[in-house]
Amino acid sequence: MLDKFDRNINYLRISVTDRCNLRCTYCMPEEGIQLLRHADILTFDEITHFTRVAVENGVTKVRITGGEPLVRKGVTALVRMISDIEGIEDLSMTTNGVLLKQFAQELKSSGLHRVNISLDTVDPIKFAEITRCGNINDVFEGIKAAKEAGLLPVKINCVVKESKEEEEAIAVTRFCKVNDLEIRYIRQMDLVKGHFSRVIGGTGGECHLCNRLRLTANGKLKPCLFDNIEFDIRELGFEKALKMAIETKPECGSINDTGAFYNIGG
Ligand code: 5AD
Ligand code: SF4
Repeated sequence: MLDKFDRNINYLRISVTDRCNLRCTYCMPEEGIQLLRHADILTFDEITHFTRVAVENGVTKVRITGGEPLVRKGVTALVRMISDIEGIEDLSMTTNGVLLKQFAQELKSSGLHRVNISLDTVDPIKFAEITRCGNINDVFEGIKAAKEAGLLPVKINCVVKESKEEEEAIAVTRFCKVNDLEIRYIRQMDLVKGHFSRVIGGTGGECHLCNRLRLTANGKLKPCLFDNIEFDIRELGFEKALKMAIETKPECGSINDTGAFYNIGG
């Protein structure tokens, strides 16, 4: 469906949980995170039904995000339900990779096409610092499992401060070359201060090309990551929320003080 600025809105990003098994410094505070109540989190049936409505209205690309999507109980069953919807050409997931060793095969057989895995450093100590608790070997094993399962192309998301010439990013670039992985660099953003920027080597952050809608884990449909505007799909009904989000999608992002990445899904 075209919006007011002639952008074809065909990409839906679905956050299936606000929980995560890591605590990346740029994404979450160390403690005191206000988590959603379970009753507020959309059921698999609601997510699937909404996605079907979105696909009927022109969505062809769906990405499953979080928090960390693989910590949502039974997520492979949800992948199966979504992949059964006719008309989705690209079904992907953004994950931190920690649980991929366990889930990669099952995700593939449930109809997932591919994964993006977050990796900002290849240094185990730096990784533990950034994620506050992670073991980088889990991610390395997860990446291997994703390739073996055929969740291709496996893409790496590397968060950088300013540029891909930073020391950590250079090492991740080398790792990707050696291991036959695509890489995209995402400048660290600050939603509240309105600091957003283009994804280097990928799409995102270019307002005039933006084709995205985001569904939060508690059913708020957000036409723009950098805007407070959102529509509650339970309150409004799926069709109406979808139409309103497309109609009101801003020409360009500004600021968002209603959420952080872990509950909107990067
Ligand atoms: N700035 C940029 N990207 C972020 N992500 C999370 N927090 C931020 C932030 N502050 C994105 C990263 C990460 C994904 C899970 O969410 O791309 O890989
Ligand atoms: Fe979890 Fe991703 Fe946020 Fe890190 S950036 S805390 S892996 S959701």
